[in-house]
Amino acid sequence: MGPDRGAARGRYATSVPRFYVTTPIYYVNDVPHIGHAYTMVIADALARWHRLQGDDVFFLTGTDEHGDKIARAAEAHGVSPQEWVDATSRRFVEAWEGLDISNDDFIRTTEPRHHIAVQQFLQKIHDNGFTELGVYSGLYCVSCEDYKKESELIDGNCPIHGTPVELLEEENYFFKLSAFEGRLLEWYEANPDAVRPSSKRNEALGIIRGGLEDISITRTSTRWGVEVPWDSAHVFYVWYDALVNYLTAIGYADDPARFDSWWPAVHHILGKDIIRFHCVWWPAMCMAAGIDPPAHLLVHGWLLVSGEKMSKSRANQIAPSDLTDDFGVDAVRYFLLRDTPFGTDGDFSYEGITARYNADLANNLGNLLARVATVVGSKCDGMGPGADPDSRLAAVSATVVADAIAAWGEGQPHLALEATWRLIRETNAELETAEPWKAEPGPAVSAVLGSALEALRIVALLVSPAMPDTSAEIWRRLGLDGRPEDRRLPQDATWGGYPGGRAVEKAAPLFPRRSE
Ligand code: MSP
Repeated sequence: MGPDRGAARGRYATSVPRFYVTTPIYYVNDVPHIGHAYTMVIADALARWHRLQGDDVFFLTGTDEHGDKIARAAEAHGVSPQEWVDATSRRFVEAWEGLDISNDDFIRTTEPRHHIAVQQFLQKIHDNGFTELGVYSGLYCVSCEDYKKESELIDGNCPIHGTPVELLEEENYFFKLSAFEGRLLEWYEANPDAVRPSSKRNEALGIIRGGLEDISITRTSTRWGVEVPWDSAHVFYVWYDALVNYLTAIGYADDPARFDSWWPAVHHILGKDIIRFHCVWWPAMCMAAGIDPPAHLLVHGWLLVSGEKMSKSRANQIAPSDLTDDFGVDAVRYFLLRDTPFGTDGDFSYEGITARYNADLANNLGNLLARVATVVGSKCDGMGPGADPDSRLAAVSATVVADAIAAWGEGQPHLALEATWRLIRETNAELETAEPWKAEPGPAVSAVLGSALEALRIVALLVSPAMPDTSAEIWRRLGLDGRPEDRRLPQDATWGGYPGGRAVEKAAPLFPRRSE
């Protein structure tokens, strides 16, 4: 997933590659759980990775605050919808602060800037002749904010939420999605990598090939939404307004030069449950409004708990703070990124996270840092020697850096971290063989310790998108200047960068072992 070069025009023109990454915006009636955190941490790590490459990054997230579901929740709590969303949106802001998420903007769909952009975008679709008035009658799941076909239901209930659907009938405006079947297929053909992984691309293609029906895009049954500019009796259907957030935040309505500098070179990260909206409706909506469809749609699987999707209705949610209080922020981020290959479903369990914590963080990374600092203390008076240019680890490190860069670039954090841990394991193995703690101080001991310090420096750089605090702490304990995130890759990960002659700090274990 390379950054996009040369997209910027006008006063935003720049030769620096740009990386625009988004997450879906979260429904505020839910509380943030580790399924949402999974999406966030992936997007955050990719954003950090691109910053480390020196790219110009814009990372967007936010909350989806309209729709029946929200209006009903507010009513149930005896407050106005606005009061309700103000309070609940805050929970997401706080949850992401607690997970060290580095978003550049947080959009709320109730903000005036968003209403203006939605009205402008949808008016364009209307003016271009892609809407029409009709009567919609269908079975609706309020939790999904989506219509269901009779054939999809399980015992009359929504297949995702297991809750009853409702019969809805009203006069709506429709978007002529059916008119885009051919153009969408052409777009998929011309852009084979637009939707990834390929299994998810095939799923989207299957939906299109199965035939597209026009979709109802407005409601008269609620006032809680963005008013339709050409017919004020209607508000837009929540999904229709929500998708436009990706345009609002980059100046669609108020800064065309800025908008052109970021669009369409976006990377939308999304879960597999919202493929239809993002990979079918959204490109068609963009075409209908006369802008290019999004360039990259990256679809991840679900994080399951005991094989089930987390949801409020199932009451099996785990709050991110429950885990971070227990394991620490970076350990949770590491687990989310490392345990599940991008695109497949993962499973969360306390045994799983504990096992990974102990094996990868306590025994491998933490232990390496601790033993190197201890032996530098006993054999080198606490002053770290410089890296040995002839160390076997130099070649290991070069391969690891190349593999990690490739994996991050392809949006595969689990492979990037797997590669990084090869360097950690090889460095531990090198120490086991050389046993510097048993040897007399001298050039051989300095060479092996200097190389271990250099490997740790490179590891700190490579883990920084996943574990920013850990990275900074290793950097500090090695006596290095500045912050790892201010370094640039790949150049600063070349073997030989550890200067030597720095005081190496012995401190408490980074990841104390946990009982299993
Ligand atoms: N509001 C819509 C998105 C609109 S984007 C224009 C929505 N919100 S959501 O809160 O239900 O989901 C947001 C994201 O969280 C989705 O990508 C969804 O897949 C993800 N997840 C919610 N639960 C999840 C898991 N258990 N596991 C992984 N991701 C999950 O849909």
